[in-house]
Amino acid sequence: MYKAKAYSVSSATSPFASTTIARRDATPKDVQIEILFCGVCHSDLHQARNEWSGLMPTVYPCVPGHEIVGRVTKVGSAVTKFKVGDLAAVGCMVDSDRTCPECQAGLEQFCPNFALTYNFPDKHLGGVTYGGYSDSIVVDEHFVLRVPANLDLAGAAPLLCAGITTYSPMHHWGVTKGKKVGIVGLGGLGHMGVKFAHALGAHTVVFTTSPSKKDDALRLGADEVVLSKNADEMNKHAGSFDFILDAVAAPHDINAFINMLRRDGNITMVGAPETPLPVAVFGLLFRRRSFSGSLIGGIAETQEMLDFCGKHNITADVEVIPIQKINEAYERLVKSDVKYRFSIDMASLKSE
Ligand SMILES: NC(=O)c1ccc[n+]([C@@H]2O[C@H](COP(=O)([O-])OP(=O)(O)OC[C@H]3O[C@@H](n4cnc5c(N)ncnc54)[C@H](OP(=O)(O)O)[C@@H]3O)[C@@H](O)[C@H]2O)c1
Ligand SMILES: [Zn+2]
Ligand SMILES: [Zn+2]
Repeated sequence: MYKAKAYSVSSATSPFASTTIARRDATPKDVQIEILFCGVCHSDLHQARNEWSGLMPTVYPCVPGHEIVGRVTKVGSAVTKFKVGDLAAVGCMVDSDRTCPECQAGLEQFCPNFALTYNFPDKHLGGVTYGGYSDSIVVDEHFVLRVPANLDLAGAAPLLCAGITTYSPMHHWGVTKGKKVGIVGLGGLGHMGVKFAHALGAHTVVFTTSPSKKDDALRLGADEVVLSKNADEMNKHAGSFDFILDAVAAPHDINAFINMLRRDGNITMVGAPETPLPVAVFGLLFRRRSFSGSLIGGIAETQEMLDFCGKHNITADVEVIPIQKINEAYERLVKSDVKYRFSIDMASLKSE
């Protein structure tokens, strides 16, 4: 066991503060990573503030962060994929049983015995897992990803959650050239969704509540932008979408978007508001539309997404912040005021 520097919250209402946490010494299958950048996901905020108390109550102190890139500083004796000095990345998962049908299918995110990167029982040290708001992490090599060398590291970190969470459902639902695709909510996930839909050749439409994001949406790759609070703009697109990805972090009217779908169209929820969204079933019956959800993506697909990003030079648009600005960053996240992901420069933790 060794001590690592980190930032944690001690209750749902307390601000982040500097602390130290215990990390395990690398076992034969483990990779130890010096964390260089960690993205700030809205899930970090939901968890830190215990907004998902019904499903995943927060255990304090809580160290969030699951968009991790860094450099390998140590490898266990049985590690084959990494060597000291390599770039490496860790996303939302750090373990699974590797034997169940979901794991066998490369869908570790649905394994009944998986472990999330933070706030999950830690089978090595007891207590809960601690995430990437820290200077290092130790992870089984199966859950460590390779980072294409051409990608900017601060912008690559958010690919580990925002990237895979938007890439995976687009592949599952067959987003390709010629399809009309909607992205709801231009935040961390949404802006990655726009980049992927555009790169896959789809006609991409952004639905936003923020008029000030219109120009950015077009710059990020959208073909059209719709202000979702403007009924006239919304009506123009009724019944026309093949696929819509909803990445909104708060309760909102999902039926307005279901009605945008054409026959057999699908809307997939990746946003995770803390309260249920009422669905008007008739919207689904007419035109045989479907409403579904999606959770991050498996390890193999995450590597595929990173390689796709390497090939197309895709990274997140980030505002790089020192860890000392994390409380301010959370306040801005709540106000939908992030352009379009905060990425923490972990060098800032050295001065703590
Ligand atoms: N399914 C998964 O595996 C998975 C993975 C990661 C995150 N998530 C969840 O996905 C959600 C989005 O995460 P994120 O990091 O992208 O968050 P984010 O950066 O805060 O973006 C959310 C966006 O939703 C829109 N929005 C916010 N409040 C709204 C409201 N009341 N009504 C309508 N639109 C609103 C805003 O976009 P506009 O300003 O454009 O309207 C905002 O920028 C979170 O709930 C997070 O927990 C799920
Ligand atoms: Zn996330
Ligand atoms: Zn499994």
